[in-house]
Amino acid sequence: MGANVRKRFLSLISAMLVSIAMLLTRSWIIRQQGNKHQSPSPHLNPTLPTPNSLTRDSANLSDGLYTYHLNMSQFQSDFPHLQTYKCSVTLTPQTEQELGNPKPVVIMAIKSHPRSGARRQAARRTWAWEEEVEGYWVKTIFLIAQTEVSGQMELVALESREFGDILQWDFNEGHHNLSLKERCFLEWLDSEVPEVKFIFKGDDDEYVNPRAVVHFIKEHGSSPNTLHGHLLRHSTVMRSTKYAISKTLYSFDKYPSFLSGGGFLFPGTSVKYLHEVAQKIPVFPLDDVYFGFLALAANLTYRHDRRFYVSGLAFNACKYQEALVVHGIDPERLINIWTEVQRAQCQGGQRGGSFTLKSFPCGNHMCTPKLS
Ligand SMILES: *[C@@H]1O[C@H](CO)[C@@H](O)[C@H](O)[C@H]1NC(C)=O
Ligand SMILES: *[C@@H]1O[C@H](CO)[C@@H](O)[C@H](O)[C@H]1NC(C)=O
Ligand SMILES: *[C@@H]1O[C@H](CO)[C@@H](O)[C@H](O)[C@H]1NC(C)=O
Ligand SMILES: *[C@@H]1O[C@H](CO)[C@@H](O)[C@H](O)[C@H]1NC(C)=O
Repeated sequence: MGANVRKRFLSLISAMLVSIAMLLTRSWIIRQQGNKHQSPSPHLNPTLPTPNSLTRDSANLSDGLYTYHLNMSQFQSDFPHLQTYKCSVTLTPQTEQELGNPKPVVIMAIKSHPRSGARRQAARRTWAWEEEVEGYWVKTIFLIAQTEVSGQMELVALESREFGDILQWDFNEGHHNLSLKERCFLEWLDSEVPEVKFIFKGDDDEYVNPRAVVHFIKEHGSSPNTLHGHLLRHSTVMRSTKYAISKTLYSFDKYPSFLSGGGFLFPGTSVKYLHEVAQKIPVFPLDDVYFGFLALAANLTYRHDRRFYVSGLAFNACKYQEALVVHGIDPERLINIWTEVQRAQCQGGQRGGSFTLKSFPCGNHMCTPKLS
């Protein structure tokens, strides 16, 4: 008995050692390949002013109720890199969509930080998966910038190899730099995925429901100029807190209406127009407000819908089956919530059925997450 236990213990230890060795070899290979493919250091190329930054200029935008003035020289002096940064992609997502039989593509674009690996992993185990959902090809892409922490950067590179769901640029992560994710993502979409049907934008600390998103698109997605989400109408400008904007930069006390950044949906047909105006108007240092300015400049319209729960929602499996997004969910809770929602039988709700917890590559085999 004792000998048996010891034997099993020893074989367990040796199996662990083998997998650790394999993991080390593997990450070493990835790093080697990464180095080999690295382009020359950006510091060697002096940054020349791009045509884009030259065409950016002041704008007076009107929505019928107010006129909003964006003064380019002020934006240039307070947030120069937001105006002039030339988008440079360092990691690109891959798709598994077959070329022969393309389905309409829905991209779930999720802002994430290199340090938030646990959030991305929980999302991948639940909703952030590349798959067909009722005739649409749904693909999650995490939008990521840089940090100084090399371990975090290595993790992101590793995830990119493993899952092909990372789109990364070479600017640094930062609150105001989130606007660069908007601007550069529009540029990337316009040039790389011009055929995309719809784009959902959200955060990495959320419950997202791809099936409800697809149902919503089928029900409400026919207008080529309409953006959907939780609409904030003419919000008052904050002069303190994390979202503070100085009177020097923007003296008016109202913003144009914009969709809460917690989750919104826009049609692929609007991308071209959004990208066009993104090259012309000053880049506002708050990303959701910036997107509102872009939508106004591009003459797009809004449709408010309560099923974008951008300020959270007390757990109720049937309400979650209908929600497109619920903001503010920890990675540990996400897995439990997802499981509960799939199991629930709701009247008139969207059946969970074919949604399960996904197995995912881990080490050299597939793991299925444990339900609790
Ligand atoms: C915007 O309006 C202001 C006055 O409110 C005016 O001084 C400025 O020239 C206008 N700018 C543009 C680009 O039209
Ligand atoms: C724009 O800002 C500059 C200072 O950066 C100021 O001199 C100029 O008068 C402003 N223009 C308008 C139209 O407000
Ligand atoms: C934004 O990115 C630029 C370019 O990488 C960097 O210089 C700057 O420090 C970043 N800003 C913030 C607030 O992190
Ligand atoms: C903006 O769109 C409305 C209809 O939605 C249209 O009547 C108007 O002419 C458009 N304005 C511009 C400047 O394109």
